[in-house]
Amino acid sequence: MKISLAADHGGFELKDNIRTYLEGQGHQVTDYGVHSADSVDYPDYASKAAGDVASGRADRALLFCGSGIGMAISANKFKGVRAAVGTSPELVKLSRQHNNANAMALGGRFTAPAAAREMVDLFLETPFEGGRHEKRVEKIAALEANL
Ligand code: RB5
Repeated sequence: MKISLAADHGGFELKDNIRTYLEGQGHQVTDYGVHSADSVDYPDYASKAAGDVASGRADRALLFCGSGIGMAISANKFKGVRAAVGTSPELVKLSRQHNNANAMALGGRFTAPAAAREMVDLFLETPFEGGRHEKRVEKIAALEANL
């Protein structure tokens, strides 16, 4: 899979951990940084990875900040991007099955590396169920006219 990663200073350590994990699995990873604890503004980095999903350059985006929240809010401003915050394996699974999420944000200050890896696996491997969820996801896309 083509996966774009981006982090701010609150998420870069977890992002680096996940980059190593994904590269070990043979994914094609683009890492937009950051690479240090120097303070930056998360929308500047969310835009790079979410932009790749919006343009089709990436299949998925993984975003990392302190809480995951700012990255998800920012990514959801991009057409075609459906970003969820990864808070538990069950909810990550549902974000794929019901919402066809194509971006996931994780909170580097709240998520242990092993838990993050488990949620990343579920995010990448769980299929969208379609069916009754299809028209709801189409209705999300229709809301983009309000942006
Ligand atoms: C940065 O201190 C922090 O606000 C950011 O990483 C993120 O948690 C925002 O949602």
